[in-house]
Amino acid sequence: MQTHSTITALRSALAPWREPGKRIALVPTMGNLHEGHLALVDRAAHYADCVVVSIFVNPIQFGPGEDFLSYPRTLEEDSLKLAEAGVCLLFAPPVEEMYPAGATGQTQVEVPGLSDILCGASRPGHFRGVATVVSKLFNIVQPHTAVFGEKDFQQLMVIRRMVADLCMPVEIVGAPTTREPDGLAMSSRNRYLDADARARAPALYRTLGEVAERLHAGRRDYAVLEGEALRTLENAGFRPDYLSIRRSADLQPPAGGDGALVILAAAHLGGARLIDNLQVTLQ
Ligand code: PAJ
Repeated sequence: MQTHSTITALRSALAPWREPGKRIALVPTMGNLHEGHLALVDRAAHYADCVVVSIFVNPIQFGPGEDFLSYPRTLEEDSLKLAEAGVCLLFAPPVEEMYPAGATGQTQVEVPGLSDILCGASRPGHFRGVATVVSKLFNIVQPHTAVFGEKDFQQLMVIRRMVADLCMPVEIVGAPTTREPDGLAMSSRNRYLDADARARAPALYRTLGEVAERLHAGRRDYAVLEGEALRTLENAGFRPDYLSIRRSADLQPPAGGDGALVILAAAHLGGARLIDNLQVTLQ
């Protein structure tokens, strides 16, 4: 595996993979890699001859007071894991390489509507930062395919929308959420949980499962279901940000007959803000 920190060096290393018939896949990450990230790498390998992974803690997707400075940076361990996973190229640029004009003095990509709801409502500017860095990475790597986790369901929707709206020639693949044995979705931010919070954390996914069961049992009083689940989370020690039943196609509130739904939640627990979601298909 080669590692590059400049756009020029990465582009030269990619040149041989641009021959006709060869395919490049990209897995964008912020590092501190866990099995969830590595599952995306495995998935990417099905689509490409050369898998590129980027590790970049993107300052412009963090709000004031969020964890940009304390976000875990573990490049050495990460590169060992990626080399073992058969990754072809690792792109790990410094902030100045990605934002030479400063983080805010440059073109940004805005996906309206989808970016302002759910996580976007409590993290203003977050999805603008994500869409901007991902479109830069797409232009730098020019992959045929890019793989994103369903763990960040809204992010995946924002990227799909951006690619469709801006006619980007990149196939977007969503990969299922990798979980700990007790159901907690793997996340670099789980390390912010102390022992007590870690023991409570699986209640988030369990609560999503309870809502799904009630929907399968025929309940359609979405607001009441959401209220019940919020109370369950509060009783388990969470400070919920939102828990919402939405249509999986566009993240809008469902009407009676909608069958393809997703239950999404974000909640603070100890020092961490956890997110999770569960898709539900009803008859
Ligand atoms: P990061 O949180 O590092 O996640 C990188 C990719 O891994 C994302 O597509 C995310 O959805 C996926 N992922 C994280 N945990 C997962 C899990 N438990 N199971 C499956 N997939 C998982 O998401 C970002 O970075 C950034 O916003 C980024 C897209 C890189 C832009 O900066």
